[in-house]
Amino acid sequence: MAFDHKHLIDIREYSDSDIWKILETAKAFSAVNERAIKKVPTLKGKTIVNMFNEPSTRTRSSFELAEKRLSADSLNFGGSSTSTVKGESLIDTVMTLNSYKIDMVVVRDKHAGAPYIVSQHTPAGVIDAGDGKHGHPTQALLDLYTIWQHKGGFEGMKVGIVGDISHSRVVGSLAPALKIMGAEVFAIAPGTLIPPAPEVLGVDHVSNSLDDVLPELDVVYMLRIQRERLEGAPFPSLREYHNLFGLTRARERLMKPDAIVCHPGPINRGVEFDSYMADHPQRSVILDQVYAGICVRMAALYLLLGGSDNGLSA
Ligand code: CP
Repeated sequence: MAFDHKHLIDIREYSDSDIWKILETAKAFSAVNERAIKKVPTLKGKTIVNMFNEPSTRTRSSFELAEKRLSADSLNFGGSSTSTVKGESLIDTVMTLNSYKIDMVVVRDKHAGAPYIVSQHTPAGVIDAGDGKHGHPTQALLDLYTIWQHKGGFEGMKVGIVGDISHSRVVGSLAPALKIMGAEVFAIAPGTLIPPAPEVLGVDHVSNSLDDVLPELDVVYMLRIQRERLEGAPFPSLREYHNLFGLTRARERLMKPDAIVCHPGPINRGVEFDSYMADHPQRSVILDQVYAGICVRMAALYLLLGGSDNGLSA
């Protein structure tokens, strides 16, 4: 099956079979990541720019490592070390980078829509690595990969996304991706953190009570409270938020015995959950999500750039 995409910006442009192709390719790359020599020559000669204009630990490090393991040439770029601090625009920056005959730009930016703008000014492919409150498609894909590995599939799976639905770019990609794959999506948050039309994102049910919904869920996906993006005071205090929406040792008794707990990171311990749940050896799959990040990003780069399968199936 050919992979018919140049960019990964809006997950809603991907079908369920496109997403399965990425997940199955990520599984093949997981085998590569388990080898003693974790490197294949599939993207030799390709040049990838990682343009991170906003802080990142997981996304940036896993893209850089994915590119190294695929034998691509990487240019790590962005933030205060670039000429944007002298007033150079995003478009002029991209047109400058185009002169190097680049093949892919991975964009993290605080402005929603920045990856789309980049795609309009480069002949290279573009991957959205998180833009403002808009989207984070590779995060959604790594979340799907993790759920698939732990739960075996998506059809009929009840996934509760808990917390800052309004400000989360993770939800902007994850909720529609879960919908495309056949899961049932619950948004659970204070009313002040639910956007006006959550159904547009792919949300099936909205609840303001975690305790009411928790017993139904197969996957409990906790979101970070986006302190840097909050406007006004959507809840009285972090302590009250934790009391009502935090996943705690006391609340675990409400969960299905085999329900798992996800979080995109970085986590706020004592806010989204207590350390008992964040580090729960059976339920917490947060570090599996981090591992999935490198497998899925290798798969996305490989498929979007039309890599050879040289070394992948060895
Ligand atoms: N989940 C995520 O995007 O984390 P980083 O901001 O550390 O990349």
